[in-house]
Amino acid sequence: MFQVQLLLSLLTLSFTTQSYSSTSLLSILQSKPNPLSIPVTKFGAAGDGIHYDTVPIQKAINACSVAVSKHRRQCHVIFPPGNYLTATIFLKSGVVLDIHKKATILGGTKLEDYPKEQSKWYVVLAEDAADVGITGGGEINGQGLKFVQRFDKKKNVMVSWNHTRACLGDECRPRLVGFIGCRNIEISDVRLIEPAYWCLHLVRSDNTSISDVTIYGDFNSPNNDGIDIEDSNNTVITRCNINTGDDAICPKSSTGPVHNLTATNCWIRTKSSAIKLGSASFYTFKNFLFDNITIFESHRGLALQIRDGGNVSDITFSNINISTRYYHPSWWGRAEPIYVTTCPRDATSKAGSISNLLFVNITSTSENGIFLSGSGGGVLSNLKFINMNLTYKRWTKYPDGWVDYRPGCQELVKHQTAGFMMEHIDGLVFENVVMKWSNDESMRWNNPLDFRPSTVNNISMLNFYSRSYQQ
Ligand SMILES: *[C@@H]1O[C@H](CO)[C@@H](O)[C@H](O)[C@H]1NC(C)=O
Ligand SMILES: *[C@@H]1O[C@H](CO)[C@@H](O)[C@H](O)[C@H]1NC(C)=O
Ligand SMILES: *[C@@H]1O[C@H](CO)[C@@H](O)[C@H](O)[C@H]1NC(C)=O
Ligand SMILES: *[C@@H]1O[C@H](CO)[C@@H](O)[C@H](O)[C@H]1NC(C)=O
Ligand SMILES: *[C@@H]1O[C@H](CO)[C@@H](O)[C@H](O)[C@H]1NC(C)=O
Ligand SMILES: *[C@@H]1O[C@H](CO)[C@@H](O)[C@H](O)[C@H]1NC(C)=O
Ligand SMILES: *[C@@H]1O[C@H](CO)[C@@H](O)[C@H](O)[C@H]1NC(C)=O
Ligand SMILES: *[C@@H]1O[C@H](CO)[C@@H](O)[C@H](O)[C@H]1NC(C)=O
Ligand SMILES: *[C@@H]1O[C@H](CO)[C@@H](O)[C@H](O)[C@H]1NC(C)=O
Ligand SMILES: *[C@@H]1O[C@H](CO)[C@@H](O)[C@H](O)[C@H]1NC(C)=O
Repeated sequence: MFQVQLLLSLLTLSFTTQSYSSTSLLSILQSKPNPLSIPVTKFGAAGDGIHYDTVPIQKAINACSVAVSKHRRQCHVIFPPGNYLTATIFLKSGVVLDIHKKATILGGTKLEDYPKEQSKWYVVLAEDAADVGITGGGEINGQGLKFVQRFDKKKNVMVSWNHTRACLGDECRPRLVGFIGCRNIEISDVRLIEPAYWCLHLVRSDNTSISDVTIYGDFNSPNNDGIDIEDSNNTVITRCNINTGDDAICPKSSTGPVHNLTATNCWIRTKSSAIKLGSASFYTFKNFLFDNITIFESHRGLALQIRDGGNVSDITFSNINISTRYYHPSWWGRAEPIYVTTCPRDATSKAGSISNLLFVNITSTSENGIFLSGSGGGVLSNLKFINMNLTYKRWTKYPDGWVDYRPGCQELVKHQTAGFMMEHIDGLVFENVVMKWSNDESMRWNNPLDFRPSTVNNISMLNFYSRSYQQ
């Protein structure tokens, strides 16, 4: 009896629109279990990329949400082929945006397209929702290039919506997709393109799966981070392709810790850090795994930028190929393949501790060495580097010879380049590490290991080689 009722209501939902043909009846009957679904065209979405479809899209989401509570099942809001220009849309519990591979949701580029509170400036926003998702093979596009005030190959100058005082500073632009206080999120098979600011943002959320997602942001635009995992637990990222100006995968802790983050099988290129813990780091980061990742021509590879007193432990980086090069120094990063730092951001900050890091099976080609820097109050302890092939050579003309503590701390400090530059460490293991150096005299780097015994204690080396190589 229940089955029959369910099927009937499915049919009513589907047949109230012209755009559903008899073939979809066939597919509804053939595939089960099948999700409830409502196309945005049912409520009059034009999909012409010119008229705002905000109201029809929101009506479809709301209708789906009603269907969800009635049938206790997920409901898909279908975007057929087309371009759907919209102001902020609000995702509800149980609702999945199902964007056809020839469909694009286009974010509005006007301040009035977004809610009053700056914390809600997203093209797609889910708040306190459960069992939500985005899928379908299509695209969400933030039209980020329309926020560029002046194009500059060093770093674009962006508009900032700071005149209403809802937001202060020079980073007042909308993010693309946000989940705030949500659980059971599934984002798969979707392209997230040209965000005006951060791209995919998880906030205080739990149990998120992100797979087969392509993220593309303009290489010269600042702040277009790929995935920001803020104060959220149990996040799994896999098979992602991220190509952005700013940090690609970026856990942050502002109001709570981040536990259990896994990112595997990804390809990343960024003008900033490929993987960055921080710099907002007020609480714990614990139990992260980054495996089978390729990092291509980025400004920094694997980075811990701990500045606010949060502690970090139990992080593994395995099977990772990295190439890092210099870009304009207005971007944080100095071509370090690996960068592990903790220092107090400013006089009011504390230094967090970093412990139990494992780097295993890492191959890198880079213009700078590895930087490992604890500080007085925050020592790095129990770091292991196993099976590392590190090649050092220069191929750009940007100047070297600086260590980069930004943001805050000692900022940029003149220092000659080393293979491993180390300070304030207790417990460090090298096993099967091969460092190869380009013979180029002009490089002025001749220091495989740079440390002072007064701040670095208990180093062990097994099979550590350092040698020059012929090109
Ligand atoms: C507003 O943003 C512009 C552009 O980034 C910036 O130059 C200016 O300093 C900002 N003004 C305020 C009050 O933050
Ligand atoms: C996590 O979310 C998925 C859906 O994305 C769901 O199938 C699974 O049951 C959830 N796990 C927990 C522990 O709630
Ligand atoms: C994440 O887990 C920590 C530790 O159990 C907990 O304190 C925190 O509230 C959790 N955060 C979320 C968003 O569930
Ligand atoms: C992290 O994962 C472990 C192992 O799956 C689990 O026992 C623990 O509860 C998770 N932590 C949080 C905060 O969910
Ligand atoms: C590693 O990731 C790539 C995709 O980037 C994938 O093709 C390959 O199968 C993965 N390897 C393993 C061992 O999972
Ligand atoms: C790294 O490069 C090696 C050799 O070039 C290759 O065998 C391996 O699959 C690559 N791993 C990743 C994660 O790309
Ligand atoms: C970090 O660890 C230190 C030493 O155990 C502790 O005093 C401090 O409260 C921790 N910080 C946070 C933010 O939990
Ligand atoms: C490093 O290079 C050696 C010799 O070329 C190779 O046997 C080894 O597998 C490589 N290790 C990694 C982690 O790529
Ligand atoms: C490191 O690489 C070796 C050889 O390719 C492999 O046997 C081992 O499982 C890898 N270790 C990890 C932690 O992935
Ligand atoms: C030295 O460091 C290693 C690796 O962190 C650790 O296992 C060992 O206990 C340390 N030894 C001492 C004497 O502290």
